[in-house]
Amino acid sequence: MKTSLGFFGAGKMAEGILAAAACQKGFDPQTVLMAEKIPARAQELAKRYHVRTTPDVKDVARAARVIFLAVRPQDLAALAADVKPLLTAKTLVVSIAAGKSLATLRKLLGTGVRLVRVMPNLALRAREGMCAICPAKNATPADVKRVAKILNGAGRTVVLPEKCFDAVTALSGSGPAFFAFMEQAMAAGGVKLGLPKDAARLLAEQTMLGTAAYLRQSGADLETFISGVATPGGTTAAGMDVLRASDFASVVAATLKAASDRSAELGK
Ligand SMILES: NC(=O)c1ccc[n+]([C@@H]2O[C@H](COP(=O)([O-])OP(=O)(O)OC[C@H]3O[C@@H](n4cnc5c(N)ncnc54)[C@H](OP(=O)(O)O)[C@@H]3O)[C@@H](O)[C@H]2O)c1
Repeated sequence: MKTSLGFFGAGKMAEGILAAAACQKGFDPQTVLMAEKIPARAQELAKRYHVRTTPDVKDVARAARVIFLAVRPQDLAALAADVKPLLTAKTLVVSIAAGKSLATLRKLLGTGVRLVRVMPNLALRAREGMCAICPAKNATPADVKRVAKILNGAGRTVVLPEKCFDAVTALSGSGPAFFAFMEQAMAAGGVKLGLPKDAARLLAEQTMLGTAAYLRQSGADLETFISGVATPGGTTAAGMDVLRASDFASVVAATLKAASDRSAELGK
């Protein structure tokens, strides 16, 4: 059986990418080979997606031409020791390992292999992910196109230089926790005003989702949108006066700076 797509590791993120690939026209799950250490996890994915699995990453390195590297960063060195001798310029490795630079990947996986680095986020698992893509010098435009095509099935992609990756890690990588924190604060504020807890969460969450959907659909300028909602003398304007007078924007900027600095430290 021909293997077109491979995975090193079949955890949560790998499943998100597989689910996206599975939506592509003409997708044949039998051409996917996933290496996974945990037998129960391998069986689960084989049953759910009808893909082939193996406990040995070397099987994937030998057979697949495009491989998503989806093990945790701390498992990367051990994995690389196993597969490095098998990876050639015929193989494209797409790494989603957080904080692992192309230079580090190159050292670990060898000089021949074609590399693309991706910073995804966990919304990939809800098919609303945000992935930044950075190709290594030896990856081709067709490689980038192919990776983007797969990942676009699980949300949105953007191609950026690697020097942007600490900022990307802060904004979209860690971002789900920051937006969840905002949702938590909105819901808690609603409860203080007398709303039942569950209803407050639903109101906050659906409003966050709906606002993002509307902004995406309309492409509205954010300042114009805010002023449009906040009619003078109205309820939104009363709330916005408090927000604008606060240091909310600088707290958000400091939050992103801390996450970006930490990403830079971890990447050293
Ligand atoms: N989760 C996120 O939100 C997120 C966001 C951005 C980037 N990422 C990156 O995505 C990658 C995957 O994250 P994840 O959350 O999907 O991790 P995960 O659920 O822990 O999946 C990794 C899987 O790979 C297996 N594995 C490790 N070494 C292996 C080997 N040599 N052979 C076969 N299987 C092996 C692990 O098994 P064991 O558990 O037995 O080791 C585990 O089942 C990480 O590098 C992370 O930095 C994740």
